[in-house]
Amino acid sequence: MEDLFSEIEAPEREEIIALRKELEEQNYRYYVLNAPTMSDREFDQKMRRLQDLEKYHPEMDDPKSPTKHVGSDLSKKSGFLQITHKYPMLSLANTYSREEVEDWVKKLPQDVEIVCELKFDGLSISLWYEDGLLTHAVTRGDGVKGDDVLNNIKTIPSIPWTLPQIAGMESPRFLEMRGEVLLPWKNFERLNQEREMDEEPLFANPRNAASGTLKLQDAKEVARRGLDTYLYYMLGDNLPADTHYDRLQSARRWGFPISEHVEVCHSVDEVMAYINTWDTKRKDLPVATDGIVLKVNNLQQQQALGYTAKTPRWPIAYKFPAEKQLTLLRSITYQVGRTGVITPVANLDPVQLSGTVVQRATLHNEDFIRSLHIQEGDRVWVEKGGEIIPKITGKEEDNIDENNYSYTFPTVCPECGATLVRVEGEAAWRCPNETNCPPQIKGKLEHFVSRKAMNIDGLGTETIDLLYSQHLLHDIADIYNLKATDIARQERLGEKSAQNILDGIERSKQVPWARVLFALGIKMVGETTAKKIARRFPSINALQQADREQLTAIEDVGEQIADNVVAWLHEPANLALVERLAEAGLTMTAEENDNVMGNALEGKTIVISGTFTQHSRDEYKTLIEAYGGKNSGSVSSKTSFILAGENMGPEKRKKAETLGVALLTEDEFLQLINTNTTK
Ligand code: IVH
Repeated sequence: MEDLFSEIEAPEREEIIALRKELEEQNYRYYVLNAPTMSDREFDQKMRRLQDLEKYHPEMDDPKSPTKHVGSDLSKKSGFLQITHKYPMLSLANTYSREEVEDWVKKLPQDVEIVCELKFDGLSISLWYEDGLLTHAVTRGDGVKGDDVLNNIKTIPSIPWTLPQIAGMESPRFLEMRGEVLLPWKNFERLNQEREMDEEPLFANPRNAASGTLKLQDAKEVARRGLDTYLYYMLGDNLPADTHYDRLQSARRWGFPISEHVEVCHSVDEVMAYINTWDTKRKDLPVATDGIVLKVNNLQQQQALGYTAKTPRWPIAYKFPAEKQLTLLRSITYQVGRTGVITPVANLDPVQLSGTVVQRATLHNEDFIRSLHIQEGDRVWVEKGGEIIPKITGKEEDNIDENNYSYTFPTVCPECGATLVRVEGEAAWRCPNETNCPPQIKGKLEHFVSRKAMNIDGLGTETIDLLYSQHLLHDIADIYNLKATDIARQERLGEKSAQNILDGIERSKQVPWARVLFALGIKMVGETTAKKIARRFPSINALQQADREQLTAIEDVGEQIADNVVAWLHEPANLALVERLAEAGLTMTAEENDNVMGNALEGKTIVISGTFTQHSRDEYKTLIEAYGGKNSGSVSSKTSFILAGENMGPEKRKKAETLGVALLTEDEFLQLINTNTTK
């Protein structure tokens, strides 16, 4: 009997082992690689299943099981100092079920107050203030130890570096503020656009992008990407207030960024109303949220509720269901990008998703299609990846075994018929016919005129299509041969548009060398890389002499980029192109002040004077540089503005007045970098 019993249970034991392995791997993919291959929901479901199985199999107990510890974002080669948390950073119990939220509320004491907050979808951070100074910023890590990413955290303008003295509020010797580091949607989209241009892998969502950014060893790049934060939890000794809500209010007075959407609720109905409201309204927020967090307000009641092994009992997270839909995959077509990459596209029966109708979604590449056994006619799941480009994430039922599955990726370009190539180590197939494949030609033209490149107004996709089909545009140098009459005689375009376009073309001749280099559309040379290359090689002539070694010596220029640059510049057709562009009068040499990173204080020379309350002088210096500005010691006609604190030197003030140089207060300055960078 006993044998039979254990035989029946053997599959469950195997399942436990398999689930543990799978969940560990997903934890690593999520926290360390920032590239999960499982949806949050699926992860949570599997975790639940494992918890249930473990309950029935106490003999399989294992303290290393993923049910017993939080996922770890520690990476051995991170290069950050690891710090032990003063208080362990536990995760939250979570649920997708509104009934479970109701049950949780009903089990609490009668008179309880519940604070409802948004659950921000970034990564958690713990900020340490010792004697009023921000001394460490520690990631969750494995919950016990985390990485100290202070330098990167200091690029976030809303985080105070010191606690101000406030009348009636005692500054604690030690204060810990916990919260979420986020990349606002706008900055996330901008970053992904840049990465697409640079042909770097895209971040699937703002959380992964924020996490990848916070782990960079380059604070300037972190600043440029524009992280933001909301803080939601205060810890320490002798802290103000005895409720969570009041503590958040104190934190706000200290200058911490606290969400405005925190509410105290007194009943299940109020909690449900909050959830219902934010299920819809969250879509209008500038940052990603993935649920609601409910917290018992009274700290004494919190303490009385205590902890389970992994999570405290006083908070719970309700997670919004993922926005995905099942629909019919009508057909797969293939799209040719600017650089010849072939992207398989799913053509779908239209479905409603996050407020829009979706009919097309990316299938990424051949390997992706094969790994999911996808075929035309399947019912597939479509999701909005990071809410921009919809993507297929799976199929309803995968009942095909490997032997019965057949799928062939096209061998020739759907646009020009050239034989496709697949570079070893790359997932993508490409059309190699760079100079004669229509979407590649049009793509290059569109890239060349785009805002961050030559910024030629009036030459949009449609106009380029039109001029291309009329044989007036075939390569980027043709733009500079366009005549008013050529344009004006096109349908829809009159003399006025023609003049507009020609003015834009004329203005583009002033665009600095770094942007011209970016505009050329060399593979993997994005905006930032172009700037770095242009700084080291300040003219096209200098760059033409550059070899692989000199190029790879530039920060962030790897061998592949270097090879692309050298190959591009030695291709006879491109040499001719460059010559024609130079003849047309484009800027092919750097001006002295082209060398700054593109961000809020780009091109600005700023003088710091006086004493400050929110940051020290040195900190302001760092901020100015981190945002692309130049700090200078003396006021002159070149000074863009003065960052003026209390007791500014009378000499400087006089000089500023004479020269008409503006004075900005600390607040105005912080607002300037804030609004121009992250909002
Ligand atoms: S409270 C002990 N409040 O969600 C309670 N967490 O899934 C500490 N999160 O690890 C956390 N928004 O990174 C709290 N308003 C909020 C939150 C929040 C997002 C994150 C946090 C936590 C994770 C759990």
